[in-house]
Amino acid sequence: MATATKERPVETKTDQTNQNQDILNVKNLEIFYGEKRAVNGISMDIEKNSVTALIGPSGCGKSTFLRSINRMNDLISGARATGDIIYENLNILSDQINVVALRKEIGMVFQKPNPFPKSIYENITHALKFAGTRKKSELDKIVEESLRKAALWDEVKDRLHKSALSLSGGQQQRLCIARTIAMKPTVMLLDEPSSALDPISNAKVEDLIVDLKKDYSIIIVTHNMQQASRISDKTAFFLSGDLIEYDLTEKIFTNPSVKKTEEYISGRFG
Ligand SMILES: Nc1ncnc2c1ncn2[C@@H]1O[C@H](COP(=O)(O)OP(=O)(O)O)[C@@H](O)[C@H]1O
Ligand SMILES: [Mg+2]
Repeated sequence: MATATKERPVETKTDQTNQNQDILNVKNLEIFYGEKRAVNGISMDIEKNSVTALIGPSGCGKSTFLRSINRMNDLISGARATGDIIYENLNILSDQINVVALRKEIGMVFQKPNPFPKSIYENITHALKFAGTRKKSELDKIVEESLRKAALWDEVKDRLHKSALSLSGGQQQRLCIARTIAMKPTVMLLDEPSSALDPISNAKVEDLIVDLKKDYSIIIVTHNMQQASRISDKTAFFLSGDLIEYDLTEKIFTNPSVKKTEEYISGRFG
């Protein structure tokens, strides 16, 4: 596959390694904004090539947790994290991590589609060029591959050089997913990626996510419990910064072990 040699996201390694089927092992993770603790010492193992859903009421720490995985909280002044997030025998929270390289391996897609005000083609090639891929034939190939994987190619192949802003919201969100795919990540973090979309676009994004887990490990925040139950393999229920219950999605939605989970999924609060 035509790709530049990947810069590793770290200079030194930990002596910890992932458990067999896991892509991430989170251990006793606490996240603070100033004095306020938003995530209260949670531990969870995230499986490779699976979809993990994070659910829970607004403000319970889902986005904070998700952003810690590719160090996006670094951009928030006063935010800090303690504990371990082990990824391929690296500790993501180590101050030796090269966060630019890390974010290529652990990509993120946000709630509101945020394409650059450039062409569809340039949206995908921008970061690749920055990372040193210059050959047109190679860029063309990655653009097509990424758009195909994001189930957008057929809709845009005849207008690759038109503005990304001319696309519908649902198409823009699939473009943002394609842009992430182009970086050849191993993990994709999705923060309510379809909540701003119409039902048809939402269905397309959901189908896409299920399809993508062949190649990637996906963690998705959703406030939509039907969505979590449709697309995820495991579900984590957060409440006030605590991880209340984490299990197979089917178990969480049919026979949860904790009363609070049952109350939440049956719509009694949140
Ligand atoms: N940038 C920030 N600065 C300070 N506090 C924040 C910031 N972002 C989130 N918080 C606080 O952290 C807690 C968890 O928020 P968040 O992770 O956004 O929850 P969720 O995504 O589950 O709605 C909330 O109390 C929220 O007010
Ligand atoms: Mg959030």
